[in-house]
Amino acid sequence: MNETLERWSTRRAFILAVTGAAVGLGNIWRFPYITGENGGAAFLLLYIGFVLLLGLPVMMAEIMIGRAGRRSPMQSLGHLATQAGASRHWRWLGLFGAFTVFCILSFYSVVSGWSIEFLVASINGNFVGAAPAEVGAGFDAFLADPGRMAFNHTLFLIMTMLVVAAGVSKGLERLNNLLMPLLYLLLLLLAGYAATTEGFGPALAWLFMPDISAVTPLVVMHAMGHAFFTLAVGACALMAYGAYMPDHQSLPKAAVAVAVLDVAVALLAGIAIFSVVFAQGMDPGEGPGLMFVTLPIAFAQLPWGALWLSAFFLLLLLATWTSSINLAEPMVATLEGMGLKRGYAAAIVGLAVWLVGLLTVLSFSTLAEWRPLFGMNAFELVSTIPPEIFLPLGGLLIAIFAAWVMPEAAARGALGVGPWGFALWRRLVRWVAIPLTLIVLVAGLI
Ligand code: PHE
Ligand code: NA
Repeated sequence: MNETLERWSTRRAFILAVTGAAVGLGNIWRFPYITGENGGAAFLLLYIGFVLLLGLPVMMAEIMIGRAGRRSPMQSLGHLATQAGASRHWRWLGLFGAFTVFCILSFYSVVSGWSIEFLVASINGNFVGAAPAEVGAGFDAFLADPGRMAFNHTLFLIMTMLVVAAGVSKGLERLNNLLMPLLYLLLLLLAGYAATTEGFGPALAWLFMPDISAVTPLVVMHAMGHAFFTLAVGACALMAYGAYMPDHQSLPKAAVAVAVLDVAVALLAGIAIFSVVFAQGMDPGEGPGLMFVTLPIAFAQLPWGALWLSAFFLLLLLATWTSSINLAEPMVATLEGMGLKRGYAAAIVGLAVWLVGLLTVLSFSTLAEWRPLFGMNAFELVSTIPPEIFLPLGGLLIAIFAAWVMPEAAARGALGVGPWGFALWRRLVRWVAIPLTLIVLVAGLI
């Protein structure tokens, strides 16, 4: 296949599309509960360090490969490898990425379904005047009801696959871009409100005063995995976007803008959520339910609480919708590349993700104690191994390809930087990102 001639219409369009992929459950749901489970500030510090040292340079590498290849990830990798005189087998990295996002989407869709449930509940005013204990009990009852959870999972996946099948994601992206600032504003408002509560001080201390003794190799691996996950790096999903990036746009600037925004959203969500945790004497390590229990409690204290809360879940749903469209795209594109019609490809992918997602649904009730691997149940497996092992592994291979396999001229041209900037980037990838990822992966696995 030849180079695509399609380009994002404006510079902003590219940044907004990548932001749409990046900002999602990772920032608002996963970041707080993972930070809570891993002891707070030390984890946060590690995660920010990994975003800077690994996430950013590897994100640039990934987008750069897309812009250099101007094809689908598999085809770009194969084409560039041939040009560099390297093995065409590099293209299988694209398939590995598609497999990774397949696993991620299977639980992402289920948790996005929780947002549908909570959106409906908050529109119905279910949280008005609810005591914190009631909110928690309501969530537990919901988790214990696989039928309701499967219904929402089904609904969310249909929403996602319809857009993917129609190939209208650009339209949705525009809507997303219009509404995302509202989500940031709502989080800002909530963090501002949190500053007036008694939980704010302890939350800040817990988030920003590191206790180094809490750091184990496993905590470091969790932090690295989360940095890849939240930036959407390591699955060749951003590579696909890079293919449409205009020639003269600064790639490093775009990557920095996305990373800053992504971390900012996570920090705002963290401040709001942990203020409630400490004000209510809850356990920060409470797990995946953390955001779903704390935010209804927080919004319930505000005037017009039900309205704010409904708006919040609506916007969150939109953010997860655009992320999941990006998660589904690589698989559908791969099947399409094998000659399948787009609609069929979307149906097949949707059905497969739906089936695997049912394991996550059931792992909160019937299959809670079914632990096939490493003592983890289905949800724990699929929400841990792909983000924390597959994404770093994919990122590692992307980094090796970009900094060791691709010839300097091709890489520098697609990165769009001067000789000095290129040397800096390549040193960072070669001597920091690649060894660091390897060391953390190996240490964490042992
Ligand atoms: N970055 C997304 C989030 O934080 C998740 C994601 C991971 C999207 C990998 C695409 C690829 O919600
Ligand atoms: Na994110």
